[in-house]
Amino acid sequence: MKKNHLGIIGLGVMGRNLALNAASKGFSVAGYDADATKGRDLAEAAKGKQFSAAATLQEFVDSLEAPRRIWMMVPAGKIVDAVLGGLKPILTTDDIVIDGGNSYFKDTERRASDWESAGLRFFGMGVSGGEEGALHGPSLMPGGHEPSYRRLEEVLTRMAAQTSDGPCCTYLGPGGAGHYVKMVHNAIEYGIMQAICEAYDLLKNVVGLSAPEIRDHFAEWNAGDLNSFLLEISVTVLGKIDSETRMPLVDLVVDTAEQKGTGKWAAQDAFDIGVAVPTLVASVVARIISGAKDDRDAASKILTGPPGAFSGDKAQFIARLRDAYSLTVLACYAQGFEQMRVASSEYRYNLLPAEIARIWKGGCIIRARLLDPILGAFQENPELKNLMVAPHFSRLINEKAGSLREIVRTASEFGTPCPVFSSSLAYIDSYRQARLPANLLQAQRDYFGAHTYRRLDKEGKFHTDWEK
Ligand code: 6PG
Repeated sequence: MKKNHLGIIGLGVMGRNLALNAASKGFSVAGYDADATKGRDLAEAAKGKQFSAAATLQEFVDSLEAPRRIWMMVPAGKIVDAVLGGLKPILTTDDIVIDGGNSYFKDTERRASDWESAGLRFFGMGVSGGEEGALHGPSLMPGGHEPSYRRLEEVLTRMAAQTSDGPCCTYLGPGGAGHYVKMVHNAIEYGIMQAICEAYDLLKNVVGLSAPEIRDHFAEWNAGDLNSFLLEISVTVLGKIDSETRMPLVDLVVDTAEQKGTGKWAAQDAFDIGVAVPTLVASVVARIISGAKDDRDAASKILTGPPGAFSGDKAQFIARLRDAYSLTVLACYAQGFEQMRVASSEYRYNLLPAEIARIWKGGCIIRARLLDPILGAFQENPELKNLMVAPHFSRLINEKAGSLREIVRTASEFGTPCPVFSSSLAYIDSYRQARLPANLLQAQRDYFGAHTYRRLDKEGKFHTDWEK
């Protein structure tokens, strides 16, 4: 019997759609799920395509051509190790297993080295684009053993989203490189989502617009160079009317945001490797504070904000908000790419920023028109330290920083929190200073801990008895 090209383990909505995607591109696919009804349902939906559901893991493995290509789409954590434990004894040398979940990159490093020592190949692969992306073309971020990638390349690049710059899939680097890039992708995702939320909040609570009015402004922004998937879905969300109450549905949604951990891991690792990603960190913190709903409810009865209402020029405020939003989104990408640059040397991933920008242009949650000039900037200068100093972006910042400043000032005047707008402004303002007040800080450290300091006017390390 002819063996299958690709095997998928975990036939939940993502695994199911990936199987349908691969089968629709003409690849023969085997599927396995511990819940056999999922395999049967998918076989029914995939009628006419080359899909077969296996009843056991052994049957699944036996049905694949060697070396095997197995794509796991199971929740990150213990389940990944449990599935790997079941597979390991029944696989043979050079078989490849891909973990397509949002696994922590250090778990991926551990699993990859464990599998390599057994002669097996392990790939940690970021898969972005949700259910729709999985079906019609996701952005795929694989990392692992490079020669084995060549065996995956055809199926992955054909399943991925396609753009004018090629398929949204490329080999990223060894070990946990793929999951690292996906983790940073998600942190950028958090940052942009929070920036949209803050723009919405300012339009709602400072300018006094309704959800459908805000939708119209966002739709206008989205029609130009701010176009992005996240802004586009926000337009749709803001336009949705609840059929029961006839109110905008968004106004009825409880204001607590959940998270599964990728944004937090990115922030934690940024601290570990010493990269400043304040906008990304602020977006994680914003989700945490949103979760403390009861405390906020109680505090809202005790703590008061500033009095007064906005009486300025609304059209001018909205135009400035648009520019402030554009710089905040730029800060998210600038910080994410800087984090990956540092991580690349720290973890020896050899990441290519232009390739990452290219595969984020389609399929993924952070796809945006802005990725075109980002790609251009890294193509022009692959060693670029920070996007903010690339000519195209430094011009934008110099032109629009005044708007961001004005928005943060107004938000603070009316007590509307805008953590990612204000941290982006502080980031830009800090990054552009040749001299920060850390001279005083270092002197303080030397005062109480004899930590020493360096001087501007001579070489060496110095300690002073500051009391004398
Ligand atoms: C994607 C998304 C996807 C998922 C995240 C959301 O790229 O398709 O990032 O992976 O939506 O897990 O993460 P939170 O649950 O933490 O918001």
